[in-house]
Amino acid sequence: MLTAYDMYTAELFDEAGIPVLLVGDSAANNVYGYDTSLPVTVDELLFLTRGVTRAVKRALVVADLPFGSYQVSPEQAVATAVRFMKEGRAHAVKLEGGRRFAPHVEAIVAAGIPVIGHIGFTPQSEHQLGGYRVQGRDDKADAVLADAVALEEAGAFAVVLEMVTAEVAKRVTHELRIPTVGIGAGPDCDAQVLVWQDMAGLRRGKAPRFVKKYADVASVLGNAASEFASEVRNRAFPGPEHSFH
Ligand code: KIV
Ligand code: NA
Repeated sequence: MLTAYDMYTAELFDEAGIPVLLVGDSAANNVYGYDTSLPVTVDELLFLTRGVTRAVKRALVVADLPFGSYQVSPEQAVATAVRFMKEGRAHAVKLEGGRRFAPHVEAIVAAGIPVIGHIGFTPQSEHQLGGYRVQGRDDKADAVLADAVALEEAGAFAVVLEMVTAEVAKRVTHELRIPTVGIGAGPDCDAQVLVWQDMAGLRRGKAPRFVKKYADVASVLGNAASEFASEVRNRAFPGPEHSFH
């Protein structure tokens, strides 16, 4: 699974054989430039979701429900999920939270909408979790497992495990029948997810430990832009072949 937030990346990742594309609320950081995922709105994600679903031929497109759009009640969760299916043309939705959100997951599933859970480090609750921290250490392992089991019982078809120890992720993956999708959760999950700008090296600066950079898109794009600027300045572009007569 990779994130995708627009048409061209969705098309490329789909053709590359990525089976699931996530229109993550990480668009808050990676598209809109917010410093956390909390401010991004349903509309801001809906418009991106439309671009991704229009581009895809094969991949399953999952839309993240943003902070504040499902926590109020299972009814609110269903209403928001319906918007992502109807207006965003998503194939499934994802929301953050464990046992306390089982009723929300159950209500969305009852509406005929497939749901992916997301536990461990959940960025929408970073203030409650006390910052960007690995979850499931020491005596907290059982809590992560209980959250995962509650989501499976509520009808989720997969669960994202973010920044939990490899040991906990292995145990959860073994206990569940539904697949686990890891990010910073070690090698034993059923699947893995990364944010595409991290994976492809568009984002610069220090990446989290769990990110592997498979390309240097930042250099490719930056070099293209500066070459364009210098060719325009020294009148090398446009040439005769780019001009009409
Ligand atoms: O929003 C996001 O990108 C995510 C993935 C990291 C799982 O939730
Ligand atoms: Na997310």
